[in-house]
Parts: sequence; structure tokens; C-alpha cells
Amino acid sequence: MSHSIRATVMQTPSTTELEILDDVVVTVDEGLITHIGPARQHIGDVDLHLGHDTVLVPGFIDLHIHAPQWPQLGTGYDLPLDRWLFEYTFPLEARYDDTAFAQSVWDSMVPALLSHGTTTAVYYGSTHVEATTALARTCIQHGQRAWVGRVAMDHPEGTPEFYRDASAEDGLAASRTSIEQIEALADPRGLVRPIITPRFIPACSDELLTGLGSLAASTGHLVQTHCSENDWEHNHVLERHVVSDTTSLDNFGLLREGTVLAHGCLLSDDDFATIRNRRAGIAHCPLSNVYFGDAVFPTRRALAQSVRVGLGTDIAGGPSASLLAQAAHAVNASRQLEHGVDQTISGDERGVDDSRIDATTAFHLATLGGADVLGEPLGLLEVGRRFDAVAVDMRAVDHWPAGDTPTRRFEKLVRTASSADISAVWVDGTIVHAV
Ligand code: GUN
Ligand code: FE
Repeated sequence: MSHSIRATVMQTPSTTELEILDDVVVTVDEGLITHIGPARQHIGDVDLHLGHDTVLVPGFIDLHIHAPQWPQLGTGYDLPLDRWLFEYTFPLEARYDDTAFAQSVWDSMVPALLSHGTTTAVYYGSTHVEATTALARTCIQHGQRAWVGRVAMDHPEGTPEFYRDASAEDGLAASRTSIEQIEALADPRGLVRPIITPRFIPACSDELLTGLGSLAASTGHLVQTHCSENDWEHNHVLERHVVSDTTSLDNFGLLREGTVLAHGCLLSDDDFATIRNRRAGIAHCPLSNVYFGDAVFPTRRALAQSVRVGLGTDIAGGPSASLLAQAAHAVNASRQLEHGVDQTISGDERGVDDSRIDATTAFHLATLGGADVLGEPLGLLEVGRRFDAVAVDMRAVDHWPAGDTPTRRFEKLVRTASSADISAVWVDGTIVHAV
């Protein structure tokens, strides 16, 4: 049965275009948007009327979350990536051998992410099949759209003995079982799907990477991994495979349409061309990159080369669960790249010209950009796409509304709204969070 919502919509059909649909009625049938038109032309009642104080926006798409790292969100940023993994993260992830512990984390995290407006989540689980299946089940229960991946990692040097697949063969078998278990949940609405997840090249043997590439080809499931996140990872791959991370992943058959490459801070223009040609995409994680990335991801350069880019929180590499916080910081990071940061270098040589992005581009990354990476009809409220949406209560955000234009309201929303301002969230036409 269809239902209708009357609201003012703000969204970004392209990286440079802010579209404001003032006082429209959105009609949704079985999760699909079937009509949008001016409220004054609407005949009959509406089911919900969001007044002038509320703005309706497309749901946020988080392309990169490490679900088992939820307990350490906001802590542990004193070590570089390699030591952070071995000293904090791998010991925490190893605990998901205990499925009851895992379930208690998922029950905390999934509703929290929905309250931040994350309608689609692309998750790394842990190496554990049961805990990963439980995550998929929890997403189904709460109605979150999700891709859920069991993490494959078997390299005897890139992983600790207490947390790794016993062999490439074992890892491959466990990834296959995980896919089967997630498919067997038979999510009636098809919101939750498996994703093939080699952690990153340093943690995986060539045999495992080869096997996962074949698994992707034979099953058609999406792939996610980390790519050229920082100098340590980037140089590891250059030394081990004598090609860039991107080329190496491509050689293993892992760079496919819809492959999500997290971070990419050190990607070259050649890498961008390869990623574009394979129709893969990048999860830009600007807050995480402050701590682990070693360089600012050149968003504008990637977009100029027609590379698909969305946003990720990289929980817990980044200390915020909010995609809006990532969008705001994506703008900040791009400005610091443009200006440069070292005051001992003269102003005309300090930064990288033409690097800045604005709030419109950043919001696009958080919505349609992510949808395009995944190849799904999401990210924009238009006929033919799924109704994943977030209602933002603007009363606190509009702290000084006098003289505000719709464009200024949008900027305030991107830069200052938080979960406290989110009053309702829909996934596939169904309310999944409301205050
Ligand atoms: N590279 C491999 N594993 C991880 C992880 O858990 N977080 C981040 N940021 N990078 C990684
Ligand atoms: Fe990550």
C-alpha cells in the first residue's frame, strides 16, 4: 500500500548541484518512490506532514564500517596503523569468537547508526562466521540496508597468531560459508547482502587473494578492501608485488564493478584511471585519514577523473559514527589540502591548488556518491529510487534563522546537524528510527 509524505526536500543530484524541492509530496509504494510533486497539486490526504521546521534528505550511505571496532570508537588514536591494529584492534576483534558478546555489540551499534541517519551500511565483520551472520541478522531485524562481510586474513606476518584464518584454504571456506549463511537468512525485503572482504593485502596471502578473486567472479558478490591507505600499506604492496595496491588488487580479480576501496589516500592518477575503468569506487574516510592516512585524499582530483567516491566513517579508525560529520570534515580536509599546513613553506607553494570541495559536493558523497559506488537506486529522492530518507529537525540547527536562504539552511545542516537533530529515518519506505 502506498503512503505519502509532505515535506521540503534538500538533495544533491550531482556534485555541484543543490536541489531544493519546496513543499512537495513524496509517494512511496512498497519502498519505491512512485511520485513527487508540489503539495498544492496533491489531491487527497497525506499520511505525514513535516512542517517548515523539518527538512527531508536522502539517507546517508556509510561505505566503510568496521563493526567489531564499535566498542573502541573514540579511543586509541596514539599509535600508527600497523601498531594500532596489532595492539588495540586485533585483540578486540578476536573477542567476536564469543557470539553473545558480538550480539551485544550489534544490538548497541545498529540502532545507534540508524539514529545518525545511516540507512545503508557497508560492514566489515570479524573473521568469525557466526558473529558476522549475527550482524546480518541484526541489520535485518532493525531494517538497516547493509552489506556484511566476513573478514578474510591469513598472512602469517600481517596478522597475529590469535586472530587469523588458519590457512588460505580455511579462509576461503569460511568466506564461502559466511556468504551461504547470510543468504540463508532469506531477508524478505532483500536489504542485507554478503560482501567479499579481504582485509587488505598485508593481512592476506596471495593464495587467499586469488581464491577470493575467483569467489567474486563466480558469485557476483561485491568486494571491499583497503587500498593505499597510508605509506606503510602502500609501500608494503609495492615491495611485495612490485606494483601499486590498485594494480595488485586488479591482478587478483578483486577490482570489479562496485568494489569498495577504503581510504585511497596515496592513489596515483594511473590508479584512478584503473579504478574508473573497472567501475570500482572509493570510500573516502576523512576523519580516519587524519590519524592513519598520512595524506589528504584528493577528492576533487578523483572526481575530476570521473572516479566514483562516497564517504565512510571507518569506525573506529575515525572517531565519529556520523556521516554528516564526515561530510563536514571532507570539506575541512580539502581546504587544508588546498592551503597546505606547514607555515614554514611560503604561501604560494604550501598547498595544492584547486583541491577544495564545498558542502554540496560533500553531501553528494554521503548520499548519491555512495549509491553510485554500490550501483544501487538510492541517494536521491526521485521516482524509481528506493525511499531511504532522513528527517532533520532544523530548530536547533537554524540557531539564527533571520535572513537565511534555503542554501544557507542546507550549509548549516551539512556542517552542524547531528543525530540530536534527526527526528525520523526511513529505509525502503519503513520508519526505522523516530524520536
Ligand atoms: N587496514 C586494515 N585493517 C584496517 C582497519 O581495521 N582500519 C583501518 N583504518 N585500516 C585498516
Ligand atoms: Fe578501515
